[in-house]
Amino acid sequence: MSSDKRNILISGASRGIGRCIAEKAIQDGHNISIGLRDIKCLKNSELPYLTKKSERIHVESYDAKDKISANLWAEKTKQKFGKIDTLIHCAGIFKRTPLNYAEKEENDINELWKVNVLGPWILTRACWKYLTENNNSRVIVLVSMSGKRSKGKLAGYTASKFALMGLCQTIRNEGWEKGLRVSTINPGWVNTRMASEVESIKKEEMTQPEDIGEIVSKILELPNSCIPFEININCNLEKSK
Ligand SMILES: NC(=O)c1ccc[n+]([C@@H]2O[C@H](COP(=O)([O-])OP(=O)(O)OC[C@H]3O[C@@H](n4cnc5c(N)ncnc54)[C@H](OP(=O)(O)O)[C@@H]3O)[C@@H](O)[C@H]2O)c1
Repeated sequence: MSSDKRNILISGASRGIGRCIAEKAIQDGHNISIGLRDIKCLKNSELPYLTKKSERIHVESYDAKDKISANLWAEKTKQKFGKIDTLIHCAGIFKRTPLNYAEKEENDINELWKVNVLGPWILTRACWKYLTENNNSRVIVLVSMSGKRSKGKLAGYTASKFALMGLCQTIRNEGWEKGLRVSTINPGWVNTRMASEVESIKKEEMTQPEDIGEIVSKILELPNSCIPFEININCNLEKSK
């Protein structure tokens, strides 16, 4: 078990799973740097951890579709904290694009690819030189059970998450000798805005985002020799057909 405090760059922390991970990380004493599409959203903040002005929290503009914002965010975080040893990817979008999509849905496929796959890829690349100078870094990625199996008709989302899982395997390969370890977290439904329209399961029966914050907290305590690569989380039994 490690008691080291980390310097964490986290996307998607405005709400949902990312926000819970960020709040727990602050409670645990880590430094966090969060990238937001709309920094103005802090005015009416849903983010209690940001209202406690703290030297341990850094905020930058970031859009997963904008490479320049990723590069700047990484650089500014390095300047602020002196190092980046943890990168947590929580930004993501969900769309119900089916296999036989309508013409007007074609752009949804591009959006899924840009935000769910290229976003983490570009941000990992932007942080790479910092992550690989510590010999003890972590990359934690909110993939999904949709990156493990295809259930239903979510062709666009599922294809993006399988691609993301492939990317994570490659990050692990390329970072291993430099002490970088990757964990993918793969839930079914989590009770956030992303799952707000799901009716097949009650909100209280879904995985709760705070519990994913606890899992990430535990991963950050573990040594290089004990980092799980895949954490699959089911809130209900997935029956094989
Ligand atoms: N909820 C589930 O059931 C579930 C299950 C499995 C996996 N996941 C995955 O877990 C991750 C987090 O999901 P969530 O449930 O927390 O969803 P959420 O509540 O909808 O939050 C999504 C986050 O992603 C950010 N984001 C979206 N597009 C972005 C962009 N272009 N640039 C930067 N940030 C962007 C949002 O920021 P804004 O505030 O700017 O919109 C928000 O912070 C996603 O990758 C999702 O696919 C979720």
